[in-house]
Amino acid sequence: MPSNSLPEQGRRPAWRRVVPGFLALAMTAAAPMVAPASSEAAPAHVDNPFAGATSYVNPDYAENVQSSIDQTQDADLQAKMQQVKSYPTAVWLDRIAAIEGGEDNGGRLSLREHLDEALAQQGSGPITASFVIYDLPGRDCSALASNGELPLTQQGLQRYKNDYIDAITDVMDDPKYNDIRITTVIEPDGLPNLVTNLDDPECAEAKSSGIQVDAVQYALNQLHDISNVYTYMDFAHSGWLGWNNNLTQTVQLYTDVVQETDAGFQSVDGFATNTSNYTPTEEPFLTDPNARVGGNQVRSGDFYKWNPNFDESDFAASLHDQLVSNGWPSSVGTIIDTGRNGWGGSERPTQESSSTDLNTYIEESKVDRRAHRGLWCNSSGAGIGVPPQAAPSGHPNANIDAFVWTKPPGESDGSSEEIPNDEGKSPDPMCDPDYVAPEAGNNPTGALPNSPLAGHWFHEQFKMLVQNAHPEISAASREGTN
Ligand code: BGC
Repeated sequence: MPSNSLPEQGRRPAWRRVVPGFLALAMTAAAPMVAPASSEAAPAHVDNPFAGATSYVNPDYAENVQSSIDQTQDADLQAKMQQVKSYPTAVWLDRIAAIEGGEDNGGRLSLREHLDEALAQQGSGPITASFVIYDLPGRDCSALASNGELPLTQQGLQRYKNDYIDAITDVMDDPKYNDIRITTVIEPDGLPNLVTNLDDPECAEAKSSGIQVDAVQYALNQLHDISNVYTYMDFAHSGWLGWNNNLTQTVQLYTDVVQETDAGFQSVDGFATNTSNYTPTEEPFLTDPNARVGGNQVRSGDFYKWNPNFDESDFAASLHDQLVSNGWPSSVGTIIDTGRNGWGGSERPTQESSSTDLNTYIEESKVDRRAHRGLWCNSSGAGIGVPPQAAPSGHPNANIDAFVWTKPPGESDGSSEEIPNDEGKSPDPMCDPDYVAPEAGNNPTGALPNSPLAGHWFHEQFKMLVQNAHPEISAASREGTN
């Protein structure tokens, strides 16, 4: 990792809030130099929080996996599920009630309990614990499955700031948690929707009101203020923002938004791609988008539609390049969600196709088995991908801080049925296997049938993901992970 060459302007050490006025005192020549108590000392903010660290394993997730183990007869599959139980996944703070946990949030742990548990899991070295900040007013404006609890109004924005972000940072700022590297993924799909989905009236309103930008800036300011908190802004995935015009426009929006935060570029440690998506990290048989088949460039095929970024590894490199051109420090990292982008199993191609018909060639070569890259709901045929890993090698120019499992494999993307709930979630046709989606090239969605609400445990999906894992899950695959 290149080290961060810019000065840490604007970063306030965590203890400054604990001992108000300390800095002012220490800076007057006459004042005695009082050091903060060591347990309250601001921890160093490192370039890549995942490097050299272990990661928090969420007991709530392990419980869900156990429920699937209990329903499984096949001993081999059970052993694989048992292995998955030991992997770190992110905790989604997907509504205000998730901060306090308990009965109002499906019996799950509170934020404080997660952090206490992370301390209990910590060995002698550093540990990361990952949280998703996901409660934007007017959330999921271009879809329905993950609509949220806060309306796109000034009141919704105030609740986001006071009842959601402040409540989170109050806990994270407790000096007791100083030694945990708390990594956050900020608002999946939030800002990308404001670039490419403006034909949707809700997204247009989200943009013109300025509410979502205000919310994201507030989140960055508050989270960055705590020196052991790391911020990764969600940056969708290659099948969404990979076209050059989408990439440049979105980087420009992020640049404008972040430059207006208190600490500017320093507010952001990196970008998160493929969160909750199924795009492969590598398309091993499609390595050159400009190669020609039957006289046409591979990128011009129906599946890629001229998008030159076929996978997340290439996308992370393109993103990094674009960020640096826009003035971002080269230390800015990427994390890629590999929880569900494995695409193993019997349908996975094992070699490059020899067809001279471009679309046949792509279909026979790509490991991504979806009919269209815009399909995002409980995709059938998907499998778990590479286990969480810090600073993976072999991805030149991408500056990847880690492969992470942000979307816990086995939690649903959404439902197509009306299921009463108090989370703001609505039925989404993209989760209906019988729906032919104009927004995805008139292809059937490929969604698994009978899915529960977004975020709820979906045993059938979990089973499929474990069966189709690539690399295959075995006790040995744990080696070399963080
Ligand atoms: C849901 C969240 C959930 C998350 C992780 C999202 O699609 O809207 O409620 O926590 O997925 O499963």
